[in-house]
Amino acid sequence: MEQQLIYTASPASALDDLTQRLGSPRCVIIADVNTAGLVLPTLKAESETAAAAPQIIIKSGDADKNLNELTGVWRQMDSLRLGRKDIVINLGGGVVTDLGGFAAATFKRGLRCINMPTTVLAAVDASVGGKTGINFNGVKNLIGTFTEPLATIISGRFFATLPPREILSGYAEIIKHSLLEDDRTFTYLLHHSPAEPAFSTAGLLPLIQTSVLTKKRICDADLRESGIRKALNFGHTAGHAFEALALRRQAPVPHGYAVAWGMVTELILSHMLLNFPSEYVALLARYVTENYGAFDLSCNDYPELLELMSHDKKNTDPEKINFTLLEAVGRPRIDCTADPERIKVALDIYRDFSGQ
Ligand code: GLY
Repeated sequence: MEQQLIYTASPASALDDLTQRLGSPRCVIIADVNTAGLVLPTLKAESETAAAAPQIIIKSGDADKNLNELTGVWRQMDSLRLGRKDIVINLGGGVVTDLGGFAAATFKRGLRCINMPTTVLAAVDASVGGKTGINFNGVKNLIGTFTEPLATIISGRFFATLPPREILSGYAEIIKHSLLEDDRTFTYLLHHSPAEPAFSTAGLLPLIQTSVLTKKRICDADLRESGIRKALNFGHTAGHAFEALALRRQAPVPHGYAVAWGMVTELILSHMLLNFPSEYVALLARYVTENYGAFDLSCNDYPELLELMSHDKKNTDPEKINFTLLEAVGRPRIDCTADPERIKVALDIYRDFSGQ
């Protein structure tokens, strides 16, 4: 059955309608400590399905997306005697959809699940494509499956109370999808900011819808990431290295911020290696610096950043670093490599653009 994408102002009734159509199966809700306090009580008050569902609460940080937390979920699934006819509802951000989705995909060889993303990032990223998993042995998402949920319910109601940083973090992935799609969407996004007061969560929903369509088009063509799905890694080779370095400095940054800085670096590389238009590089660099600030960087950090990039699990040749780059907006080129000297030049230019 094809995954349903449901956009709604009323997530509670969307959930009740959906479970009714599925024959009112027993449901269990997996939430994290934040959604359990903020979102779950409202959902339980408004939805019969949620009110009747037992809940499993997990920790909320990416560091908690681990085997220990997963074991706790499996144990609770076992004590609840969940069976294959039952449904797991993942209510939360990417940690919940990844870990909860993986627990569901593996328990008794697979329970069905419904995702209810409560962050913009999870709505545009974890909504389609079926990636589930946990971090293991110090490597992000080392263990996991491709298992699509039955349905994803996306509602602006969940985003209304998110802090601006959280919204901006998701907006970076929306910008990434636009770069894989067309100039019109890309330039529209860069002439607006989700921080503008007029830019309510209602204004975000159509952008999320367009963004999810891009991701769906790509994942439908290559669910298991053997080809074009790698385009979705644009901005992530440098972005993950920034994110990991920030973590080592004990000053973690939101994932989307690291991706925003990573996209600027990789657009510079795209210009150097594939002649990507320089005016768009400058446009993105200015937007990112104004809205996301700059990643604090000196040339003394380059060896560590390069080492982090070369340990990316997508890398096969230790001498070269693998990237998805762009020839133009809407024309990604996967499996590109760049040698360390060029990457250092791109980082120099990134620092110039961000005023460092
Ligand atoms: N987050 C990238 C992907 O789903 O492939």
